[in-house]
Amino acid sequence: MDGLRGLFTGRVKTRPPVWLMRQAGRYLPEYREVRATAPDFLSFCYTPELAIEVTLQPIRRFGFDASIIFSDILVIPDALGQRVRFVEGEGPRLDAIETPEALTALAAKLDEEELQPVYEALRGVRAALPASTSLIGFCGAPWTLATYMIAGQGTPDQAPARLFAYRHREAFAKLIDTLTESCIIHLIRQIDAGAEIVQIFDSWAGPLPLSEFDAWCVEPVARITSAVRARHPHVPVIAFPRAVAGSLRGFVDRTGVQAISLDTAARLAEVRVGLPPQIVTQGNLDPLVLIAGGDALDRAVDDILAATDGLPHIFNLGHGILPQTPIPHVERMLERIRG
Ligand code: CP3
Repeated sequence: MDGLRGLFTGRVKTRPPVWLMRQAGRYLPEYREVRATAPDFLSFCYTPELAIEVTLQPIRRFGFDASIIFSDILVIPDALGQRVRFVEGEGPRLDAIETPEALTALAAKLDEEELQPVYEALRGVRAALPASTSLIGFCGAPWTLATYMIAGQGTPDQAPARLFAYRHREAFAKLIDTLTESCIIHLIRQIDAGAEIVQIFDSWAGPLPLSEFDAWCVEPVARITSAVRARHPHVPVIAFPRAVAGSLRGFVDRTGVQAISLDTAARLAEVRVGLPPQIVTQGNLDPLVLIAGGDALDRAVDDILAATDGLPHIFNLGHGILPQTPIPHVERMLERIRG
């Protein structure tokens, strides 16, 4: 067992390695217990002992092949001086950026000092993890971060950021540039602290027309990948550009990422044939079928195993695990994958 690493050096096993996006989370009673001791979500993320503990919980319980550091994509806006709060039951809240002038309040450069607790947590997790478990660091992609920073919260169609980008192209390009540089620093620091693989979450890449997708998703992720790989040539980069079906091949070719995480709607078998054989795929299982369980879950797991048989694939969900997910269903999924 070598976690996920073997896949990136051309070793494909009979059974794929497995981890789940948001694997540390509210579906676990032991997570809810620790979470209840922290005053708010961000101070939870910034307390290394707590972050280390909840990062390790799903590894202890399920023996996943990879561990992802417990943190959030919104630590980057926070460390650029745009304070982030999480409202219970609602989600993140930031002071919305409505004009180009409002951008001048942001720091020009990431305050690395503020993110030291994340790096300390990575060092702690690496020291405690079995050698065979890969450690994943992550960041939000510049576009996805910008959608929260401009709207001040999650939005169904990312309209505020799309409008801002059309109306104030130069100012928006500057924001994307600052975020790109911040992601580069944050990923490199995470690797310095023990991350062996990094994942870039572009959860809101979907609704952009092609030219905007190229400018705000493909180019920044290409820059991040090339800068991270220049410093750490052996660290694979996984990208998760959600809901971009038709653009996946171009995205992979132009960003230079080593792996692509597929959402639930991606046609796994078709996507796979269209990709270079060394590119690793990940994901695709519907988080809702994991809630449903039973035969539907067995069939969905078998479909993914069949579509990726003999190919480099990391078993995972098409989006984060949901809080209502029954633990026995996760166990059933693992038994089926592990055979
Ligand atoms: O995968 C992991 O286990 C690592 C930790 C992780 C979290 N968030 C912890 C978290 C990761 C990789 C993320 C990524 C993230 N955060 C994304 C990209 C992936 C995606 O889901 O699309 C986004 C868009 C965010 C922003 C964010 N953080 C939102 C919108 C929310 C609220 C939604 C919710 O589920 O409550 C969060 C909060 C959050 N981040 C939680 C966790 C476990 C739940 C908060 C809690 O425990 O109270």
